[in-house]
Amino acid sequence: MNQLIDSFGRQIEYVRLAVTDRCNLRCQYCMPAHGIDIVPKQELLTFKEMYRLIRVLTELGVKKVRLTGGEPFVRKDFVGFLEMLSYNDLLDAINITTNGALISHYIDRIEQLEKVKHINLSIDSLQRDKFAKITRRDVFLDVYKTFEALEKSRLNLKLNVVVQSGFNTDEINDFVRLTKDKNVAVRFIEEMPFNGKGQRDIKENWTFKKILEEIKTEFDVEEIQSEKSSTSRNYKVDGHLGTVGIIPAFTRTICNDCNRIRITSTGTFKNCLFDDGVFNLRDFIRNGASNEDLKALFLSLVKEKPENGFIAEANRKGNVSESMSTIGG
Ligand code: GTP
Ligand code: 5AD
Ligand code: SF4
Repeated sequence: MNQLIDSFGRQIEYVRLAVTDRCNLRCQYCMPAHGIDIVPKQELLTFKEMYRLIRVLTELGVKKVRLTGGEPFVRKDFVGFLEMLSYNDLLDAINITTNGALISHYIDRIEQLEKVKHINLSIDSLQRDKFAKITRRDVFLDVYKTFEALEKSRLNLKLNVVVQSGFNTDEINDFVRLTKDKNVAVRFIEEMPFNGKGQRDIKENWTFKKILEEIKTEFDVEEIQSEKSSTSRNYKVDGHLGTVGIIPAFTRTICNDCNRIRITSTGTFKNCLFDDGVFNLRDFIRNGASNEDLKALFLSLVKEKPENGFIAEANRKGNVSESMSTIGG
């Protein structure tokens, strides 16, 4: 059987699909407050098109899909899409990254979908006023309700906390404390310079090292084994039920073990978080490409996956102006 193997022998088993570029929040590090260019609806992939692309990819060995945005639940009938994707018997896991503000009442329905296994919930503060400052929307109570519902559910839960100097660094250990009685993986993320046209100035970089030092001022932690392609380094805190991780977004590269590709909401194929998008899949299928055409295309596109996109990016001149909401995290 044909498998997606890149020029450096890495097997692609994981697709990140952004189902929309729209978001109900306006996180400071991700988007400007106003003047966001949103893509016209007809330029977005339809759910049927997404289903087809994923189906073809699973026939080439992809096992896991992570649905992102923008905010995936902003897209109308996203839960219906989850149900539709569940019919794909070649998929092992359908995971979701969400800000959680819209979904506390959907958790039961999502829980019934066996293939939905991991939910990553973005929550940068445990204080309502600070949360509103970071996200520019007063929805903390909704997000916390989702957090509590997810924590009680069978779903595997990770919390994503982007560490932002001047905003939430004083809450790092509050988040660690949360793992004492809750079966949750808290992951601190180094802030990356992707913020759309927000021109955000990162005052002080809270690096992996600095975050870990802060945790060690209060807790005894021991590193635990992580999956090979994990974005985070993970730790067990003595006596805690949950775990703590740090995603060294800019002080380390995970490229060697990268097993992922991306598709944006408009159908742009990306081999790497840091490439500009190498092919427009939407136009290809709207112009009548068959599944066999698609397979041949994917097999050749992954051969262009850079060995180390992170270093290529670091060497590239100029600022990164694309937002995480358009590239799907
Ligand atoms: P799982 O490993 O499936 O739990 O997902 P994840 O940690 O990759 O997903 P999530 O959507 O929660 O993203 C968390 C952080 O990891 C974000 O800040 C992403 O930018 C970062 N990240 C995700 N994918 C990549 C990647 O391909 N390369 C790098 N360098 N960072 C990534
Ligand atoms: N730096 C680090 N993480 C970011 N995310 C969005 N923008 C940035 C950034 N500039 C995170 C979100 C979400 C994940 C997919 O990416 O908080 O949890
Ligand atoms: Fe929305 Fe996520 Fe960007 Fe925040 S980080 S504005 S929740 S897409």
